[in-house]
Amino acid sequence: MDDVDLVRSRVDIVQLISDRVQLRRTGQNWTGLCPFHDDKNPSFTVSPKTGWYRCWSCGAKGDCFTWVMETQKLEFREALQHLATQVGVELKSQRPSVDSGERESRTRLMALAQTFFREAFAKSTQAQDYIRNRGLTPEIIDQWEIGYAPDANDVLAHRIKAQGFSLEMAKELFLVDAGAGGFYDKFRGRIMFPIRDERGQLVAFGGRLLADGHPKYINSSDTPLFSKRRVLYGLHQARDVIAKSRRAILVEGYLDVISCHRAGLSESVASLGTALGEDHARLLKRWVDEVVILYDADPAGQKAAARAAEILAAAGLRTAIAVLPPGSDPDTLLQQQGPAGLHQAVQNGMEPLDFEFRQLEARLAPDDREYWDEVVAILAQSHRPLEVERHIVRLAGKYPDLRDPIAAQRALHQLVRAAQKELRRKARPAAAGSNSAGSTPDRAAKGRIHLDAREAVVFRACLDEELRPVVWPRLSDDSLWITGIGARLAAAWASLGECPGGPAAGFLGHLDDVELTDEILALEEHTSLPVTLPTLQEALDGLEKRREQRAVVELRTQGDRSDATLDEISARLKRLKNIDSSPES
Ligand code: GTP
Ligand code: MN
Repeated sequence: MDDVDLVRSRVDIVQLISDRVQLRRTGQNWTGLCPFHDDKNPSFTVSPKTGWYRCWSCGAKGDCFTWVMETQKLEFREALQHLATQVGVELKSQRPSVDSGERESRTRLMALAQTFFREAFAKSTQAQDYIRNRGLTPEIIDQWEIGYAPDANDVLAHRIKAQGFSLEMAKELFLVDAGAGGFYDKFRGRIMFPIRDERGQLVAFGGRLLADGHPKYINSSDTPLFSKRRVLYGLHQARDVIAKSRRAILVEGYLDVISCHRAGLSESVASLGTALGEDHARLLKRWVDEVVILYDADPAGQKAAARAAEILAAAGLRTAIAVLPPGSDPDTLLQQQGPAGLHQAVQNGMEPLDFEFRQLEARLAPDDREYWDEVVAILAQSHRPLEVERHIVRLAGKYPDLRDPIAAQRALHQLVRAAQKELRRKARPAAAGSNSAGSTPDRAAKGRIHLDAREAVVFRACLDEELRPVVWPRLSDDSLWITGIGARLAAAWASLGECPGGPAAGFLGHLDDVELTDEILALEEHTSLPVTLPTLQEALDGLEKRREQRAVVELRTQGDRSDATLDEISARLKRLKNIDSSPES
């Protein structure tokens, strides 16, 4: 057992979390109000058995280390050290492991690049002129640590090499690239915006051309330090403010974030060269309850705003869409109208459906057939039933051919429900449609999301220290599983090799498949009956029986009448009979 597993096995997760959250026992687990969002009903569960916590509402989850990292804003190593001290484990290797050594080199390499860009900025009058023309003062430049990448081929690459860093690593970090003539700098002749994650770690860069040209911006692609789906520019600076106001302002670009902060709207953040996604929404949900979307006034911006609003609403956030004067973005609005213009825009933020209907009504009129098609599409996509209701009532009066508003409301409800059903059907995984000829019912069931009840018993037995050695060898039997997720889970654990000892939290930590972890947590939280050896045996028998039945059905449908096939069928039928007559215990 390594240090991490040892510490985890000694930490009492319930006790640890009880320091901050009042927990009540419910069956095998403990529940309380989630500390990561504004929880009204207890949706936060702690499972002593798995050693994990999870919030069903905001999605926060993790083990003892994530808990300490999140609640005390520590890095993993610090959290490990903190807990190790608490439970009296002396960490064996203060010498950083290869992994953390690599992480540290990456961090140092990013810092080196940042210093280099800052120095280059201080030396370039061209870069300083550009930034000054865009209205940024020296204080703002320092606050946002703006730099410059010189318009040269490989000055940064040289510096990196001279300082003894690996150029391969620099390539991984999107600082350089390899060409025919060796390594060259990725960013050339660009104003540099360092991107920090919400903890303030430097993880990426965005670079803007000084002149017109293409591409206007280059942003780091995903690197070992950076996933653009999970980082919002400005969140690190906005964090304390939004945690208090419980509101964030979402804009599109780097300079928009900076402009908003300059105008006193220091709740502003932006996604980076990518549309706002579900991960961004979850990240925001940890800090705020409401988001005001302040995107460009052009059609693309408005469309993106409506989409972002739906994603945020789906994550449980209140949203408003602020409408900017045509042709402006927050940056230009600040130049033209000063801070008051921006504050006004934010204040006039509209409810997303009102916003979408306003857009629609600018294009089409209620006596167009398409108008109603779009009305239904907009309403069907909304995650806010009360708002949908309000609009149905409002629109019913305009509905053609039906003079009775109640009948019109009913008709609209029906259309919206049908459209929602269609959306759900489309959203289902493709596997459900793979009902090709010859596939058995079990095959079709592989597209199902949840575990079969017998599988659930087997996997719960894996969480139990005593039953684990009994069940572990069976995990590598690929043919046993009924559902796709069951097969994946079994394979994931089987790949760990020998049966791990100790509490389940130790090996659960090795699972990075989110869907699988969710499935296991759900297992422990929704079932209160303990798994015993007889129930385990029964479940395994059941799975074997299903396998034999499946095989027999398949052999029979092949229609092969050779002796070998017939022998196999009868052997399998015999096995089935044996399973049935085996003693209950
Ligand atoms: P300015 O033109 O300097 O005011 O920048 P802006 O932020 O207003 O630019 P724009 O609204 O065009 O783009 C918003 C954001 O999209 C930028 O901050 C970038 O993150 C991203 N972006 C814009 N242009 C490009 C591009 O050419 N390539 C990539 N990868 N991202 C871009
Ligand atoms: Mn702009």
